[in-house]
Amino acid sequence: MAGLFITLEGIDGAGKSTHAGFIAQRMADAGHAVVQTREPGGTPLGERLREVVLGHPMDILAETLLIFAARAQHLEEVVRPALARGAVVLCDRFTDATFAYQCGGRGVAESSVEALASITHGDLSPDLTLLFDTDAGTARGRVLARNATDRFEREDLGFFERVRNRYLEQARREPGRFCVLDAGQSIADVQAAIARAIGRRIG
Ligand code: TMP
Repeated sequence: MAGLFITLEGIDGAGKSTHAGFIAQRMADAGHAVVQTREPGGTPLGERLREVVLGHPMDILAETLLIFAARAQHLEEVVRPALARGAVVLCDRFTDATFAYQCGGRGVAESSVEALASITHGDLSPDLTLLFDTDAGTARGRVLARNATDRFEREDLGFFERVRNRYLEQARREPGRFCVLDAGQSIADVQAAIARAIGRRIG
């Protein structure tokens, strides 16, 4: 039986990580085997690449290629085997993040990311993508309050506005796959919206 591939997206500080545990628990309560994972990362190699990507200044194409290297390993080692077993894979970020951050934020050509996505997972895209949407100023305030900031989190407001806009554009292009959640609401309201979205899309 094929599993379910659910991805969580949003700008830094939108609160998606706060809700990942809630979603995993909900899916487990419904009787699904759940694999919770993240990108970049999710494998020993991917986590090493994550450290480099988040910590080391680099050329934007090098950044994009390293993210896809981590993604290829993650798909091979974790995502595809779990889906083949029939599990729910709950992944904190996937290729939508590359379109949003590297294309929207940094200006990498869309065609480059499209080509890399096609090579890496042309046959696979998420069944459901929950986009935690909030304005860049609110999200930035939350990131600064956490105080441990990485290379992305230190970007300026304009960067996050571009990333957010690119995410929203992707959601408009693929309304069947995306569910946009207003992450500015209370945690309880966001969780109620998540429960409705999962129920509606997946049953
Ligand atoms: P996280 O803090 O949500 O785990 O994400 C780590 C950072 O990696 C986040 O600032 C966004 C960035 N990122 C990209 O720029 N492109 C990508 O494709 C992915 C998956 C993450």
